[in-house]
Formats: sequence, structure tokens, C-alpha cells
Amino acid sequence: MESKKDTIDAYPLILVDGKVAPRLSPLPFHIENSLESNCLNCHQSEKNFTLNNKKYIPKKMPHEYRENCISCHVIEM
Ligand code: HEC
Ligand code: HEC
Repeated sequence: MESKKDTIDAYPLILVDGKVAPRLSPLPFHIENSLESNCLNCHQSEKNFTLNNKKYIPKKMPHEYRENCISCHVIEM
């Protein structure tokens, strides 16, 4: 596993079984809620919600539980 610093410096493409880990769109809930429990609140199911009059549909996490979500899902800059 790379250290967090390496991840930031290199900003790599992260592949697991040949699949690219999607980067996080820079939405308020992705920037502010970097705790794993928060990620799972939204991504364990597909519960819709509305924020600033926009409707959002979080995708259900398609893979098994993996620790440290943001080690793979880097915020898009
Ligand atoms: C408040 C609910 C919420 C929280 C908390 C949240 N997400 Fe999301 N996430 C969403 C929604 C909604 C989308 C779809 C974005 C869109 O429709 O543009 C999304 C999209 C994604 C995507 C697909 C790429 C993208 O950004 O479109 C990934 C991967 C993801 N989230 C992972 C995470 C991780 C990891 C965390 C914790 C750091 C997290 N999410 C926290 C609601 C949330
Ligand atoms: C080891 C790297 C890794 C970790 C850690 C990881 N993921 Fe992922 N994630 C991926 C990859 C690769 C994909 C691409 C789709 C697949 O695997 O089917 C993905 C896909 C997703 C998607 C679907 C995004 C979309 O638009 O299709 C969500 C949501 C997501 N992950 C949430 C999470 C959450 C929440 C956590 C932490 C509990 C997490 N991931 C931890 C690698 C990771």
C-alpha cells in the first residue's frame, strides 16, 4: 500500500482487478465527509436525497467492503 503522501504526489490511476477506481466528484459531501462511516451512510444503499434543489442518487458500492475508501477513491481536482 502506498502512503497517503505518495498518493497525493503521484495522483495515480488506481486499478483493482483491471478496473479503475472512480475519482470522487468534488461535491460538498465528498469533500467534507471523508470518514468511512459517512461514505457508507450513502453508499451502502441507493437512498436518494436532495441538496440545493438537486436530486442525487448515490450508487451502491459494487465491491466487497474495503478499508480506507479514500486511499483508492481520490478526490478529483
Ligand atoms: C451525502 C451522501 C454521500 C456521501 C457521504 C458520500 N457520497 Fe459518494 N456519491 C454520492 C452521490 C449522490 C454520488 C453520485 C454523484 C452524482 O450524481 O454526481 C456519489 C458518487 C460517488 C462515486 C462515483 C464517482 C463520482 O464521484 O461520481 C464514488 C466512487 C463515491 N461516491 C465514493 C464515496 C466515498 C469513498 C465517500 C466517503 C469519502 C463518499 N462517496 C461519501 C453520495 C455520497
Ligand atoms: C482497493 C481500492 C478500493 C477501496 C479501498 C475502495 N474502493 Fe470503491 N471501487 C474501487 C474500484 C476499482 C471500483 C470500480 C468498480 C468495481 O470494482 O466494480 C470501485 C467502485 C466504487 C463505487 C461505484 C462508483 C461508480 O460510479 O460506479 C462506489 C460507490 C465505491 N467504490 C465506494 C467505496 C466505498 C464507500 C469504499 C470504502 C468503504 C470503497 N469504495 C473502497 C476500488 C476501491
